Amino acid sequence: MPDDGMVHLSSPYSVAETINRLETLLQAKGLTLFCRIDHSGEAEKVGLKMHPTQLVIFGNPKGGTLVMIASPTIAIDLPLKALIWEDGGGKVWVSYNSPEYLQQRHNIPGDLLQNIAGLGSLLQKVVGLGGQSSLPHPHRRKQMADPKSSDHNQEISRDRLAELLNEDLSREYQAIIGYVVYSQVLKGAEYMNIADQLALHAKQELDHALTISRQIDYLGIMPTVTPKPVKTSDNAKEMLRFDLANENETVRNYRDRVRQCEALGEFAMAEQIRQILMQEQDHQIDLATALGEEVPDVGSRSEARPVT
Ligand SMILES: [Fe+2]
Ligand SMILES: [Fe+2]
Repeated sequence: MPDDGMVHLSSPYSVAETINRLETLLQAKGLTLFCRIDHSGEAEKVGLKMHPTQLVIFGNPKGGTLVMIASPTIAIDLPLKALIWEDGGGKVWVSYNSPEYLQQRHNIPGDLLQNIAGLGSLLQKVVGLGGQSSLPHPHRRKQMADPKSSDHNQEISRDRLAELLNEDLSREYQAIIGYVVYSQVLKGAEYMNIADQLALHAKQELDHALTISRQIDYLGIMPTVTPKPVKTSDNAKEMLRFDLANENETVRNYRDRVRQCEALGEFAMAEQIRQILMQEQDHQIDLATALGEEVPDVGSRSEARPVT
């Protein structure tokens, strides 16, 4: 969970413009604007200088009430708040309590999370689609993704995406290790060609790991350091089968990831993953060809079950 339960979105607009955009969106969505607290304005009245900082308090009384009935202590965090503020460098941020943090803090039942979970996508719209989502160092503190968070969420959240990308990263590490070792130990004239290809795969997998960890960092989460387990065998065919099975799994996962990035408006990230996906499909073809098999049609997970 980013920043002790807070999410920070970079806004390309001034504080005043950002607030205008938020208020217009609230109105369009039929949400109630309860109040706006001008912290910097109040500071000025008492002769103190403060960077522009305003708090907008808003919500949906019906949706919020149902959550408060189920989890009474959330009343201290409701209505929802958006903090719009300018930092020392003149950069504008929209900060808010992450819905997953509020869920854990107040033990909100999973089926009611949706009543407050729209906050993130609403504020992302305020700052424009694909807005950067994390504070630069040193504001940001990295934490491992919380595997419990947003499991009940029907739509993918940024935290959940970061968590899934961390699983992808573990698979990339697994692939690097697998290809490094297999490319060296595969013996026999019939495997010379594929051994060279595996050495090339190893380098490409390292590039994938770098790209994926950059995306995880961008989402404000610490990239994992743990590979998925690597199987070994004395049998060349078996080694290649392990590789092919992993590539099939990887292709399935990245197909889902592209859709999930797009659902979150992260189009640049989707593009990066598409590039990786193309190479993974080449890996599949290389391995299937070496094994004398057809390239399996693996589809994607989301064709079998809803995107989580
Ligand atoms: Fe890869
Ligand atoms: Fe691969």
